[in-house]
Amino acid sequence: MQLTILILLSLTQYSMQKSTPEDSHYVAAVVEYEFSWDVQRNVHNYIELIKDASAQNADVVVFPELSLNPGEEYYIPIPIKSLLKEHPIPAVRPDLYHEILVAISTAARENDIYVVVNIQEILNCPAPEEECPEMKTYIFNANVVFDRQGAVIDRYRKMNLFGEYTRTPALKPELGVFSTDFGVTFGHFICFDLKFQVPGIQTPQKLNVTDIIFPAMWVSELPYLTAVQIQEGYAIAMNVNLIAAGANNITEGGAGSGIYSGRAGALISIMPGVPTTRLLVARVPKVPGQVTEPYSGPIPSDPSELDNLLINGDPSMAGHNSRLLVPGYQEFVLTSDDAICSFKINLTQSDSVLYKYRAGALNGVRTYAGKASGGVKICGVFACTGDTIDTCSKRFSKYTPNSLATFDELSIDAFVTTPKRNPELQADNIVYFPVSLQPTILPLQPKDYSLNITSLVGVLDLYSYKLLNHNAELYSFGIFGRVFERDGETPTHPWVDFGL
Ligand SMILES: *[C@@H]1O[C@H](CO)[C@@H](O)[C@H](O)[C@H]1NC(C)=O
Ligand SMILES: *[C@@H]1O[C@H](CO)[C@@H](O)[C@H](O)[C@H]1NC(C)=O
Ligand SMILES: *[C@@H]1O[C@H](CO)[C@@H](O)[C@H](O)[C@H]1NC(C)=O
Ligand SMILES: *[C@@H]1O[C@H](CO)[C@@H](O)[C@H](O)[C@H]1NC(C)=O
Repeated sequence: MQLTILILLSLTQYSMQKSTPEDSHYVAAVVEYEFSWDVQRNVHNYIELIKDASAQNADVVVFPELSLNPGEEYYIPIPIKSLLKEHPIPAVRPDLYHEILVAISTAARENDIYVVVNIQEILNCPAPEEECPEMKTYIFNANVVFDRQGAVIDRYRKMNLFGEYTRTPALKPELGVFSTDFGVTFGHFICFDLKFQVPGIQTPQKLNVTDIIFPAMWVSELPYLTAVQIQEGYAIAMNVNLIAAGANNITEGGAGSGIYSGRAGALISIMPGVPTTRLLVARVPKVPGQVTEPYSGPIPSDPSELDNLLINGDPSMAGHNSRLLVPGYQEFVLTSDDAICSFKINLTQSDSVLYKYRAGALNGVRTYAGKASGGVKICGVFACTGDTIDTCSKRFSKYTPNSLATFDELSIDAFVTTPKRNPELQADNIVYFPVSLQPTILPLQPKDYSLNITSLVGVLDLYSYKLLNHNAELYSFGIFGRVFERDGETPTHPWVDFGL
């Protein structure tokens, strides 16, 4: 009798661990993963991490980009339009599928959890129900989604490759999307995709989803595009929950993961400066930003540990119309074409401060390491290692405490073109990301700044961005806009070739 009650109790508790459509929250997990060239080892580690995520009641666990089957020996076919329709669960038909697909399917099933992995997919054309422009073998960078039964329920192929010469971008602009038994529909895309209208902006806007899954191998760039900084900026700008898993290889610059909820920022995030594999779990409110429970927030690394993390510089720095800041108070306007940036700054530059600071405005087209180009519209303040603009977007090779300035006042009014919805794409043509960066290579927390967006006469928006934490040491603070209609244009000069 007592035993029955115990079993009943434990069963109830077990079923209560899964989030339901009625719940206000769900539990997400991401893995910052130090990947290996040893594919079997990755598979083994993934299975352990799936177990750990499930043990912490996660409903979904997300792994980073290209960390499972690197190299050329373990390409995985994902016949989602043919065989998987008939036999959706690789775990129950191991004879039909690649061993890695079977292994992950089995782990999802045994641990009763949604799993998102990113793989190198192989498509041997011709193939049933697949579009084949050429009769050859294609390799894609793809997300694969498993449900709690281990069924493959979605596949998304990366559209915006970052070089990646062995792989082909998605042949059609198909967005990644799947629904869950806890009432949340997720959109998903991959790394560099975040910087583009399709799918980065289109996924939440066209699909009307508020939850985005984001496997990445993001190589950070000063001063606007380090990993956690832009992940959080995206969650705020798009007002979504962003579930971001980063591949970790610090000598190559890969690091940074987190779970973000709209304007509430990071529920949890890390930017490690040492080789790291770490599972991050957070309860995510279904309405982005409506956080009603305590959460861990960012877990900062020791800044000197971050000396080891490779961070690139922004090649478009020299394009900014910029002005060197002086200690004390200053108030001025900088413009770059139609971008108007008004600054009010009171800079505290004590004797230990090694960095110089500049304010800048930029409306132009930048290059992404020669692999793509994109329109930008920026109002920002950034740290420089010297007096000239070419020393900005760099750090000194060794971190010294108190080497960065603080600001008694730092406020930026950015007067910028109002975004318009492209009716065909159902996505905005411009997006503005609020960004900031501290010595921890993490952005400021929401309590440390104020951001108001006002529409002026319908064609102009005013972004009022103000620092509230006057003790914060900063590498950067600004509004970073992406202007998609200029993508693909020749980068506007001058720009710095960092030898990329
Ligand atoms: C990590 O980066 C180092 C340095 O570039 C490289 O030698 C190594 O192969 C990378 N690791 C993986 C798994 O790619
Ligand atoms: C988008 O979703 C929200 C709630 O998630 C809903 O209120 C709204 O009607 C939806 N809009 C469209 C165009 O489907
Ligand atoms: C600038 O900040 C200093 C403290 O660092 C303060 O004494 C001074 O009054 C401020 N100036 C203005 C104009 O606000
Ligand atoms: C934003 O608006 C609030 C309320 O009106 C105000 O207190 C705050 O100072 C404003 N912040 C900025 C940066 O303008």
